[in-house]
Amino acid sequence: MLWVKAFHIIFVTSWFAGLFYLPRLFVNHATATNVMVSEQLKIMEYRLYRFMLPLAVLAIGFGLWLWLGYGISGGWLHAKITLVAILMAYHIYCGKLIHDFKLDKNKRSHVWYRWFNELPVLLLFAIVILVEVKPF
Ligand code: HEM
Repeated sequence: MLWVKAFHIIFVTSWFAGLFYLPRLFVNHATATNVMVSEQLKIMEYRLYRFMLPLAVLAIGFGLWLWLGYGISGGWLHAKITLVAILMAYHIYCGKLIHDFKLDKNKRSHVWYRWFNELPVLLLFAIVILVEVKPF
């Protein structure tokens, strides 16, 4: 089980690297006035997003393996899975935003993206506290 947990944490960490950096690209993109810069950011966003998907799938896959394969459960895990579902919705919504930027149809300001960027941070705190402290 420890190998499974080790890979779970490795892919969770890698997935979060993308979840933290991608909205940062959106902040820069929302302020970009130079077409060359905007085109470059479109390429970076698309490549990063394509890279994040297998990391998310593996992070969740190893988590499900821990849950269903070793029978670990509890109220904390149900709460954790609910927060992970929000994280997955966030990931999918980032895909929609990338598409908006690609078509030069972004309507959001850089300030909005700065706040948007904070949500994965809050979710990380809550998820790790749930899995380590197991408050219920
Ligand atoms: C559906 C998705 C997920 C499921 C089913 C899941 C399930 C689990 C389970 C059953 C454990 C073992 C807990 C224990 O041994 O006490 C675990 C460990 C862990 N999970 Fe997840 N997890 C998921 C996603 C995530 C995500 C997105 C994060 C991001 C922060 C995360 C962070 C952790 C950490 C840090 C541990 C290690 C805890 C330890 O070693 O003490 N998990 N997960």
